[in-house]
Amino acid sequence: MRVALGVSGGIAAYKAAELVRLLQDKGLDVEVVMTRNAREFITPLTFAALSGHKVITGMFGEAQGSSNLESAIEHIAVAQSIDAFVIAPATANVLAKMAHGIADDFLTTLCLATKAPLIVAPAMNVNMWEHAATQENLETLRNRGVRVVDPGEGYLACGMTGAGRLASPECIAQAVFETLGLREDLKGETVLVTAGPTEEPLDAVRYISNRSSGKMGYALAEVSRRRGARVLLVSGPARTEPPAVAGLERVRTAEEMAQAVFRHLEEATVVLMAAAVADFRPAEVSSGKIKKQQGAPVVKLEPTVDILAEIARRRREAQLIVGFAAEADHVVENAAAKLRAKRLDLIVANDVSQDGAGFDVDTNIVTLLFPDGRKKALEKMRKLDVANRVLDEVVELRKRTVTSDK
Ligand code: PMT
Repeated sequence: MRVALGVSGGIAAYKAAELVRLLQDKGLDVEVVMTRNAREFITPLTFAALSGHKVITGMFGEAQGSSNLESAIEHIAVAQSIDAFVIAPATANVLAKMAHGIADDFLTTLCLATKAPLIVAPAMNVNMWEHAATQENLETLRNRGVRVVDPGEGYLACGMTGAGRLASPECIAQAVFETLGLREDLKGETVLVTAGPTEEPLDAVRYISNRSSGKMGYALAEVSRRRGARVLLVSGPARTEPPAVAGLERVRTAEEMAQAVFRHLEEATVVLMAAAVADFRPAEVSSGKIKKQQGAPVVKLEPTVDILAEIARRRREAQLIVGFAAEADHVVENAAAKLRAKRLDLIVANDVSQDGAGFDVDTNIVTLLFPDGRKKALEKMRKLDVANRVLDEVVELRKRTVTSDK
């Protein structure tokens, strides 16, 4: 989701930098728009570095290397692409312009041009805040559906005390999340996620592995965190960067993954097993490099520990366990057999034979299977969206465990 952050000129403008971080922390893409006056208090460079985007400072050609027309079109495209527009700090002047439909710079133009919900966090001197004009303008804006994050009381930069101090970045971020309907429905849960492949060594340089990139598991970890969970991630040697989570353990083999998972099992309230764990490993590992001259080796394999089966066996009451099944044929039947055999709460059947599904792609095609026989086939979608759908089901399953406890 994409949010525009409008920064107008006030001493509190520096606090908007913290707001960028809080919004990004929930996975939001932030586009910063600054008024000319805001640039007297903080430089666009700070926001460009934090947001990873050029900062829009004017209507025409102010972004380096763009023509007037290009930048005007590019800027107006922002109006169509954002899901919310938050202005923090919003000065008395900006509020007045918004209330009267004045659009004399990019920030105020965007207020008129976008259909996205507007959120304003006013900050100003207490007399300006209390002035009838400001209060009437705010009333007008509220009546139009603009959400106002009221300022707090306290010592103001002008030396006076009273109302007018910008609300905390946390409060403003919360208003944005609520406006966007971003859920905190996994708050209180500790979600243990496994991701990526395992590598089972054959000798000092060779190993058996698979094509898992870690993307599916990382998406589950990322979305769990965004939805308020504390996330513990046990990752095999994946090829992508892991998301920022409360605890990350990098492992190599199935045995190492098993030990890491068992160590964290006690604290986990939800377990999501997306890792592609090797089912077999070489029974003997040569300490050196097996020489070609010795002839082609016959590799004897032995089974690895079935982590998921062991978790299900050790499960605590109210612990929710979700498995994945990578299948290339009889997808639903085979996955349903695993769901039953391991007594899972949910299995995500992954048809890895289809284009755009399974290993090392950004999308997936899955069917969710439940112990009561229900099944939900999902169309092809981004792994992040699959993760959200899986976690929607976890939230539903949790409601049932809570109700049955009563
Ligand atoms: O990482 P990506 O490139 O994004 O690819 C995603 C994925 C295809 C790896 C993922 O969506 C997926 O399907 N993961 C499960 C892969 C797998 O090992 O499936 P399986 O049917 O062999 O195993 C069934 C379940 O048992 C899985 O939850 C697996 O984690 C678990 N298992 C398997 C073997 C083992 N020794 N211990 C286990 O716990």
